[in-house]
Amino acid sequence: MAGHLFEVDNLNIEFRRSDDKVYAVNGVSFSIGEGGTLGIVGESGSGKSVTMMSCIGLIRSNGTVKAGTAKFEGHDLLKMNRKQLEHIRGLEIGVIFQDPMTSLNPLMRIGDQIMEGMIEHHYATPRDAFDRTINLLGEMGIPEPKTRFRNYPHEFSGGMRQRIMIAMALACEPKLLIADEPTTALDVTVQMQILALLKEQQEKKNMSIAMITHDFGVATNFCDKIVVLYAGQVMEVAETKEFIRRPAHPYTIGLKNSIIEVGQRDRALKPIPGMAPTLTSPPTSCSFADRCPLVTDRCRNELPVLRQVDGNHMVACHRAEEVLNHAV
Ligand SMILES: Nc1ncnc2c1ncn2[C@@H]1O[C@H](COP(=O)(O)OP(=O)(O)O)[C@@H](O)[C@H]1O
Ligand code: SF4
Ligand SMILES: [Mg+2]
Repeated sequence: MAGHLFEVDNLNIEFRRSDDKVYAVNGVSFSIGEGGTLGIVGESGSGKSVTMMSCIGLIRSNGTVKAGTAKFEGHDLLKMNRKQLEHIRGLEIGVIFQDPMTSLNPLMRIGDQIMEGMIEHHYATPRDAFDRTINLLGEMGIPEPKTRFRNYPHEFSGGMRQRIMIAMALACEPKLLIADEPTTALDVTVQMQILALLKEQQEKKNMSIAMITHDFGVATNFCDKIVVLYAGQVMEVAETKEFIRRPAHPYTIGLKNSIIEVGQRDRALKPIPGMAPTLTSPPTSCSFADRCPLVTDRCRNELPVLRQVDGNHMVACHRAEEVLNHAV
């Protein structure tokens, strides 16, 4: 079996606010193998972006990594200085940020923006970087790359801008790509095209991908393994086929039930009633208790720890076995 390219262990992150603290990430662990695709799934505010971005040194100034390791090829990124991280970011780890409009420079031609990273990281000479940019634009399905090279971000549609962002992230052939909600702002057809493009690149280069998404359907279609986050904790982690066949956490089942299938857009969406909590003290009971149809007194008094229920299938729920055996 291929080794782990990226391995997060017991990550804890806190944010200071004016008069309290937010416990945004609480003991999160997961790994991504070489060529593996991991879906990081959960509702908005569950800690997906903070988890991944803090591993590569992108954390807001009021945030602190309190504990944990984030090893990339065996080296802990959390121990690296700014310069070391800047070197790895873009070269070894590519990032597609959540909002293309804030990540692209509106005053710079898109071709120059794609070339910039390759030159800065000494990945290519300016001449080779130019040729590679033209090739990349073509591979990303952008028509007339030589002409489009000279255009500015506002001259492209949302879908095309997303393709440019992908080209930038892939420019130096990273081993790991972090894609933070890469298709959220796009309509369903464009969303599927972008995911297909990413998959094609992933397979061609045997690249690993961490796909951050609130859409359980995107994760099950795209990824071979999924980790479900809720209130900054891992609720369930397993291979995708296991998630489809036998989800074992009540929250995962809720996420699964809220998927809208393509072509069934008018089907009633069944969101899980209630909202994800913002924790202002470390969790000591099940964070999902207030929304869980299976809640018992034990859930309100005892923190469910992540434990193995089968093979590589891990769940943090006191009643996981009953869920698995359809006993509830
Ligand atoms: N700068 C910040 N200050 C205080 N709290 C923050 C900050 N950034 C994030 N958080 C907290 O961390 C939680 C997780 O945020 P985030 O990882 O962005 O969620 P998502 O799963 O939507 O990507 C938020 O709900 C919020 O409570
Ligand atoms: S531990 Fe209890 S409240 Fe939490 S998800 Fe499981 S059954 Fe529901
Ligand atoms: Mg996010």
